[in-house]
Amino acid sequence: MENWPELEQKLYMRIIKRCPVTLVRGKGARVWDVEGKEYLDFVAGSAVNSLGHCHPVVVKALTEQAKTLIHTSNLFYTVPQLQLARLLIENSCLNRVFFCNSGAEANEGAIKLARRYGKLYLGGAYEIITTRGSFHGRTLATVAATGQDKHQQPYIPLPDGFVQADYDDSKAVQAATSNRTCAIMVEPIQGEGGVNVPHDGYLREIRAWCDEKGILLILDEIQTGIGRIGSLFGYQQYGVEPDIMTLAKGLAGGVPIGALLAKERASVFVPGDHGSTFGGNPLVCAVGMATLKFIIDNGIPAKVKKLGQYFVAGLENLKAKFGFITEIRGRGLLLALGLTENIAGELVLACLKEGLLVNPVKPNALRFMPPLIISEKDIDEALSILEKVMARRL
Ligand SMILES: Cc1ncc(COP(=O)(O)O)c(C=O)c1O
Repeated sequence: MENWPELEQKLYMRIIKRCPVTLVRGKGARVWDVEGKEYLDFVAGSAVNSLGHCHPVVVKALTEQAKTLIHTSNLFYTVPQLQLARLLIENSCLNRVFFCNSGAEANEGAIKLARRYGKLYLGGAYEIITTRGSFHGRTLATVAATGQDKHQQPYIPLPDGFVQADYDDSKAVQAATSNRTCAIMVEPIQGEGGVNVPHDGYLREIRAWCDEKGILLILDEIQTGIGRIGSLFGYQQYGVEPDIMTLAKGLAGGVPIGALLAKERASVFVPGDHGSTFGGNPLVCAVGMATLKFIIDNGIPAKVKKLGQYFVAGLENLKAKFGFITEIRGRGLLLALGLTENIAGELVLACLKEGLLVNPVKPNALRFMPPLIISEKDIDEALSILEKVMARRL
């Protein structure tokens, strides 16, 4: 049998330390490796496989659209793009949408849109306040927006125009605001930063500050959106409406997509300002439409809320048993265990052996982001593997 990890070592750019498993097949919440070993997938493509692997609705939309029309230039109207746009607008507080190919690209669009707004309405203000511990993507501007040194250091000098404030501290955002500020960009829950949940009033305080100053609130819902935290969009749980919102990950069930949404007054691009060759093509949008429609029609966000509570109750039991668990963080099916020591990597490998995929989001934190369609039985199975693996450390 071909040694795929060895080939990767030889050929692939050295950008990621991978889990030692080569996956070849998936169905529902399960995946299988080259040797036929089965795993329960609580990573779900980093919160992408919202309907699990190869969900019939995703497969049907993909195959039917592949036989009909895969791609055209955005110089022409296409039906799936406009159908998906309408579904998003009808189910959110935003009025306009632009499709692209990834989360980073959606955030790039948000940054450009906010700068455009600053030029038009805020005397040329261009600075965007972001938060420490945030993650907004890997392009230069989104790295500059990301509040983590490790992502920034290798690429200095970074594009100008980003100011950082502590997360979960609206006073810090106020202090960072100047007449150069055009927007504040924040995640409702920091995902890559370790599943950090702010206090309940945080987004409301920031929204009020944006209103007072006439600046834009950009919510990066790339990880929290599309049902992940128990509502279709995260903002719906916090009593605020963003001026601009970005989506990606779970929107098209595994097919690459990004979306930039804006309120009418913030939607200031004019023809020629922005674009994408592949963004919003018929294939991707047909799958996005099928995925999002399934999520809405089947009340998945409410189910996610309940499943999240069930999962948290099980994690509480583990916390009571194992002193090295410090806390349970997150909402819905975006959850993490905080750990006293840097043992997340070791726990991930032990879980892998037992047939469970989980993510070491920090050296001292384990993250869980299973497909939104998992069952309580799947959660029980994951909990029992976690317990078995953790018991060995006692
Ligand atoms: C909140 C958030 N924003 C942006 C991104 C970047 O998305 P992508 O990797 O699709 O470019 C991510 C990816 O993890 C994310 O979690």
